[in-house]
Amino acid sequence: MASDSAKARIAVVGAGLMGHGIAQVFALAGHEVKITDSVVRNLDSVSSRIAANLRDLGEDAGAVERVSPCVDLTEAVRDADFVVEAVSENLAVKQKLFAELELRVRRDAILASNTSVIPITAIVQDLIRKERALGTHWWNPPFLVPLVEVIETQWTSPQAVARTMALHKAAGKMPAHVKKDVPGFIGNRLQHALWREAISLVERGICDARTVDDVVKASFGRRLAVLGPLENADQVGTDLTLAIHEVVLPAIESRPGPSPYLQALVADGKLGFKSGQGFQMWSAEDQAALRARVMRHLKAMRDR
Ligand SMILES: NC(=O)c1ccc[n+]([C@@H]2O[C@H](COP(=O)([O-])OP(=O)(O)OC[C@H]3O[C@@H](n4cnc5c(N)ncnc54)[C@H](O)[C@@H]3O)[C@@H](O)[C@H]2O)c1
Repeated sequence: MASDSAKARIAVVGAGLMGHGIAQVFALAGHEVKITDSVVRNLDSVSSRIAANLRDLGEDAGAVERVSPCVDLTEAVRDADFVVEAVSENLAVKQKLFAELELRVRRDAILASNTSVIPITAIVQDLIRKERALGTHWWNPPFLVPLVEVIETQWTSPQAVARTMALHKAAGKMPAHVKKDVPGFIGNRLQHALWREAISLVERGICDARTVDDVVKASFGRRLAVLGPLENADQVGTDLTLAIHEVVLPAIESRPGPSPYLQALVADGKLGFKSGQGFQMWSAEDQAALRARVMRHLKAMRDR
């Protein structure tokens, strides 16, 4: 990359839910983007999916012209300044892909993984040049959720971190530097600490699933987008926070593994939206209404 905000050549590997959205963000920021996928059908539809998103968001429709689908991996990545992988969440698939990428990219290219939870260390440990590899964890949908966690491993160079932070900031994202490659990074550790207690409340018969969600949405959920937990702790006082923790922490869920209640749901085929029942029943109409509600909310947040 000539300079951090200059136009860069971006390659996205994997044109699924996340990959096409990541390509869209970089194209909207003015970068030239090549995108590839091992399933040609997914590549064929990528431009129309991006065009539909841009129309829906009222963004520059011409940005889709900066996204070039490439069937061939080498063609997609050989000129790239920055390569981001968004293929299936499978360690062996990602390790194999990174080994292939290393043989095909420029010496100074940065290699990033968008894995949700797999440690970056495990994905890149067999690379020859590990200092240019890191994680960039986007959130769905990539074009509406601002955060990108930039995860460094023990090998990542400070230059690779700095260039990646600058690239994402210039593209309108909010990069957050994760200084240690821990499972779940920052966002998913926080999110799943909450989900563990949410499931436990239902499992212990303290309330039903709908009540858990109603309580979150009608209370601290209202504030969360503008008031982080540690700002909140300072606001109420660290002394009060300590007093609350002395009473509450011994009582809340602390089992290390997944809840038996969750395991039973999965064993019974109650898989959520995809089977019509999970913690609650989900008709096709309920599912569509929830998806529409979330998109409306995220668009309204963007417009603020
Ligand atoms: N879906 C989310 O909310 C979300 C959020 C953050 C991160 N992620 C992570 O992003 C990655 C992609 O997730 P997704 O939801 O977009 O999945 P997806 O299934 O929608 O897309 C994955 C794409 O990768 C392609 N692919 C698989 N192996 C490939 C290979 N070797 N080479 C090229 N293409 C290949 C598939 O054909 C598919 O089009 C995963 O690691 C996932 O955990 C997902």
